[in-house]
Parts: sequence; C-alpha cells; structure tokens
Amino acid sequence: MPTLFEHGAVVYADDSALSASQALAERLRWPLLDLQSLPSELPQAFFLCYREGCLKLLDRQTLKKGGLAVDVEPRPGEQHSYPAPKKDLLAQAIGKKTKTVIDATTGWAQDSLALFRMGYDVQCIERSPVMAELIQNGFQRLAEKDWVVNRQLQPPTLLVGNAIELLAGLSEVPECIYLDPMFPPKRKQTAATRKSMAILRDILGDDLDRADLFAAAWQAAGKRVVLKSPDYAEPMGGKPSESYHGKLLRYDVYLK
Ligand SMILES: C[S@@+](CC[C@H](N)C(=O)[O-])C[C@H]1O[C@@H](n2cnc3c(N)ncnc32)[C@H](O)[C@@H]1O
Repeated sequence: MPTLFEHGAVVYADDSALSASQALAERLRWPLLDLQSLPSELPQAFFLCYREGCLKLLDRQTLKKGGLAVDVEPRPGEQHSYPAPKKDLLAQAIGKKTKTVIDATTGWAQDSLALFRMGYDVQCIERSPVMAELIQNGFQRLAEKDWVVNRQLQPPTLLVGNAIELLAGLSEVPECIYLDPMFPPKRKQTAATRKSMAILRDILGDDLDRADLFAAAWQAAGKRVVLKSPDYAEPMGGKPSESYHGKLLRYDVYLK
C-alpha cells in the first residue's frame, strides 16, 4: 500500500546543508527543493530538512519553522545517571535481568533510547526508510553526547526492513523482542506529547500485519516477547504470561 511518505521532498535552507540534503534525496528518491524558492503549490505533504543540528520531519505547517526529530534526551522525570534505574513499566516488562533486546518497531526510537539509557543491549529494526533516516540521525547525535563518548558506549544499531523477514534471519538470538506496532486509535489523541505518534499514523497508517509480526517475534525470541498495546486492544498472542498496565497502555509479556 503506498503511503504518504512515498511523496515527500527534501528541503534545504542554506548551502551548508546542501550536500547532505542531496545525498538524502538520492537515497529516498525524493525531489530536492530550495526552501528560499519554493513553488506556491506543493504536491508533497511531508518533507525532511536538516535544521538546528537535526534531521527533521516537516509538514506544510512546519515547513518554514519547527518539525519533529528523534529526541535523544532523557524523558521528563528520568534520572540522568547511566545506567538509568530499571524501574518503569517498560523495564519491568522487558525484565531487569534481560541483556539483549531487539526493538522490531523502532518508530521515533523513544522506547529503544529509554532501554539504551537503562543499559540494555539494544538492536533496532524499522521498515519505513524515512523513519530509518530520522532514527540514524538521532543515533549519530546520541553518539556525540558526552555521557556516551566518555563511557565509550555504542548507540543501538539499526536494521532497515520488514521485521517479519529480518527476525527470521538473525545471526544471534536476542533474549527479548519488543513490539510496539500501530493499532487503530479508539479515542482522539489530543495531548501535545502524542503529536509525533499521530503524525506517524497519518503517514504510515496502522500496522495491519501486526499478527504476523508477533508470530515472527515469537519464533525468533530466546526468552520473551513484549508487546505494547493500547489498553482497549485484545492481547495478540492469547493470554500473556504477565501484563503491566499503564494509564492508557499495556505491556503484555509472553515468556517462552
Ligand atoms: C508505534 S511506532 C513505534 C514507536 C516506538 N516504540 C517509539 O518509542 O517511538 C511503530 C513503528 O513500527 C514500524 N513497524 C511496524 N511494523 C513493522 C515491521 N513489520 N517491520 C519493521 N518496522 C515495523 C512502523 O513503521 C512504525 O515506525
């Protein structure tokens, strides 16, 4: 199914970003547009732009200013030590003793990055080439952070492609596979903090093959599969071994 992402454009604001923007446009086979001389009618709904030191995803409203990038800073309220304490629901679901985790639905990488900061060995998979560019840019910025450099940490690696296929060909079995596919929304999402996810759904649509993804993860995981779902969704793999309930979401844990 074609998504809106297939009809984007790369925009650049000044010559300093020109060669990186050209390379990005070639990789995605998107047109390259000069922000200073945009046509009045644009066929594209989404854009990528190197702006304020980040690669940003823009829509028509944020074309001149703003945009969304992978945020590599700790979440509000998160302790700034490394490794951060494994105390939230995500860590409980992944398991405090677990070491290796594959996040097969990386998206804006907020869960992957939280796991990385908690000291897990994280490998990422993302099938959208556009999200993959945003993630790679975030991981490059992460690699330059003092706390990462000083500890000689390696940011997570990213595999680009469909996890249903990639999980079947792994060279090493991860202890845990983490899934956070997109479900159809039940209620209107209004909170500003959810904006990035709402945009992702607008662009990519729901992940209709999530049952196949769950089956592939179950085959490939060494010890457990963790599935994040909205609170209203039925558990995908039958009765989970454990569930951790948040305000509007749930982590279902399937132990092997
Ligand atoms: C809800 S978002 C994940 C958000 C993420 N947990 C975060 O913290 O930002 C779902 C992402 O998974 C990706 N995805 C869904 N199914 C996939 C699959 N089979 N293979 C690879 N990526 C997939 C989508 O492209 C989308 O970017």
